[in-house]
Amino acid sequence: MDLSTYRIGIIGSGNMGKAIIKGLQSVKQRPTIMAWDALSDNQKFLKDELGVSVPQNNQELVSNSDIIILAVKPQVIDLVMAEIATSLTSEKLLISIAAGVPCKRLEKALRAPVPTVRIMPNTPALINRGISAIAAGSHSDEKDLEITQNIFACLGETALVPESAMDMVTAVSGSGPAYVFLVIEALLDAAVGLGMARDLARKLVIETVLGSTELLKESGKHPMELKDMVTSPGGTTIAGLAELEKNGLRHAFNEALKSACQRSQDLGN
Ligand SMILES: NC(=O)c1ccc[n+]([C@@H]2O[C@H](COP(=O)([O-])OP(=O)(O)OC[C@H]3O[C@@H](n4cnc5c(N)ncnc54)[C@H](OP(=O)(O)O)[C@@H]3O)[C@@H](O)[C@H]2O)c1
Repeated sequence: MDLSTYRIGIIGSGNMGKAIIKGLQSVKQRPTIMAWDALSDNQKFLKDELGVSVPQNNQELVSNSDIIILAVKPQVIDLVMAEIATSLTSEKLLISIAAGVPCKRLEKALRAPVPTVRIMPNTPALINRGISAIAAGSHSDEKDLEITQNIFACLGETALVPESAMDMVTAVSGSGPAYVFLVIEALLDAAVGLGMARDLARKLVIETVLGSTELLKESGKHPMELKDMVTSPGGTTIAGLAELEKNGLRHAFNEALKSACQRSQDLGN
């Protein structure tokens, strides 16, 4: 899709806002980008480092954009919506990445039936390796979802989901990177515990995790099948796996995801 015909305005230019801008700047047919942030340091960064135009305020940004991306913290969403509600018309598309904020809450703050789309990205988006789940609001159609998919494809993979799945998505891919980093940290410390130098442990662990996920993705095989490939009878791997199972790794992940999903539901309410 040719994004160059669109004017995209980004409200909030912290970690995710900047990642979206950099992603959009990397596409061949790049859109016109405008961004605003409450922080003056970020405004300076937007102008000087990213070379995007910075309006006077959020209303000016909305008036001059076809697509508006809300990349502020959930705590300030209502405030921002109050600022921009009158400038948002049905011809525009409103996209929000605020965790736990349902489309209904955005739609309630609006005067017109503006198409809204909700996204749950994750932090690997910072290096264009994220996965963004995309859910339609009440007034968005196929075309709105297609545009949104094309915008967020510049941050990695995308997946269309019903909005009712967003709490599960938050628990799995939104919070997911933190679980993976904890597992990596535990593996690293365990290797150091065996007496391995930390630098070597870091290299071995990172490449093992990267290689294993690439193998899983490329082969299309079930993880159990790939696990069996390295698990010879009476060998080292089965001894290690038995300890992980005995210590409840599977149960710990079940409980962790249930807890994160519940927390997402609670925050949304
Ligand atoms: N980071 C993640 O892993 C992740 C993953 C999924 C979803 N998200 C969602 O992405 C959103 C942004 O997260 P982030 O990590 O990028 O947050 P962040 O780094 O704090 O960036 C948000 C920026 O918005 C600014 N801001 C506050 N009020 C504003 C206003 N009225 N108008 C314009 N800008 C305003 C903030 O300035 P001040 O600092 O001065 O307030 C800050 O610079 C959040 O809603 C989060 O839930 C994040």
